[in-house]
Amino acid sequence: MKNTVATLMEQKQSGDKITMLTAYDYTTARIEDECGVNCILVGDSLGMVMLGYENTLPVTMEDMIHHTAAVARGAKNAFIVADMPFMSYQTSVYDAVVNAGRLIKEGGAHAVKLEGGAEVCEQIRAIVDASVPVVAHIGLTPQSVNAFGGFKVQGKSYERAARLIEDSLKVQEAGACAVVLEGIPARLAEVITSKLMIPTIGIGAGKGCDGQVLVYQDMLGLTTGHTPKFVKQFAAAGEAMRKGINDYINETKSGEFPAPEHTYKIDDEIMKRIKEEMK
Ligand code: KIV
Repeated sequence: MKNTVATLMEQKQSGDKITMLTAYDYTTARIEDECGVNCILVGDSLGMVMLGYENTLPVTMEDMIHHTAAVARGAKNAFIVADMPFMSYQTSVYDAVVNAGRLIKEGGAHAVKLEGGAEVCEQIRAIVDASVPVVAHIGLTPQSVNAFGGFKVQGKSYERAARLIEDSLKVQEAGACAVVLEGIPARLAEVITSKLMIPTIGIGAGKGCDGQVLVYQDMLGLTTGHTPKFVKQFAAAGEAMRKGINDYINETKSGEFPAPEHTYKIDDEIMKRIKEEMK
């Protein structure tokens, strides 16, 4: 079944949890889609997990379009959301509409996601007016890493919690079709979820959200070093990859690989003739 803005809304109403995972390439998108994930997020987290940057800030529109197009070729049923990279929408409403349009037209996304609350409502309204669905993203918004002074849980004081509730209502009012709640206390996310008509998708925001999103490298155990508290590792794919790569190195060096079953045959007569001619 195709996932759309309408099916996501139905899931909120029926209590069927929305599943979203990141993907950045054709093969991963295909596997996630075949497993039946509702949404694929081509996150600007690709800056870190695919391109090796320290944060999401260097990611460009070209990076996002390139990876979104690969995902779109791999996914048949998932609702594809592409992140608007840093400074592709903050600069002006015009830039926001043009760049959102590129992610749809050139990338093949079904919706775009941008970070911020009240301060980006004008952009959300204009993009939605151009018939492009927008997923909002509030709380720990990674593009604000320098403004926050690091990746820190948001909304812990009364004022900040109240501001996040207000922001969630404002982005809904501006026309967002869903909102990602990142890095906020679970009980605050529950309140926001109950107040909104549109679905909330949480990451580090507890189980009271209408859905969950994770970076696939984190949840499959491909990430090395620190992973945030909210990440559950559902598989040890990194271990499996290391074992496979080490086995390949060892068997290639020992001559065990390639074996006869990995090898193409040629007629004995032809080989005999070739060898004779080479004498
Ligand atoms: O870029 C990303 O992967 C995201 C998720 C963490 C929500 O924005």
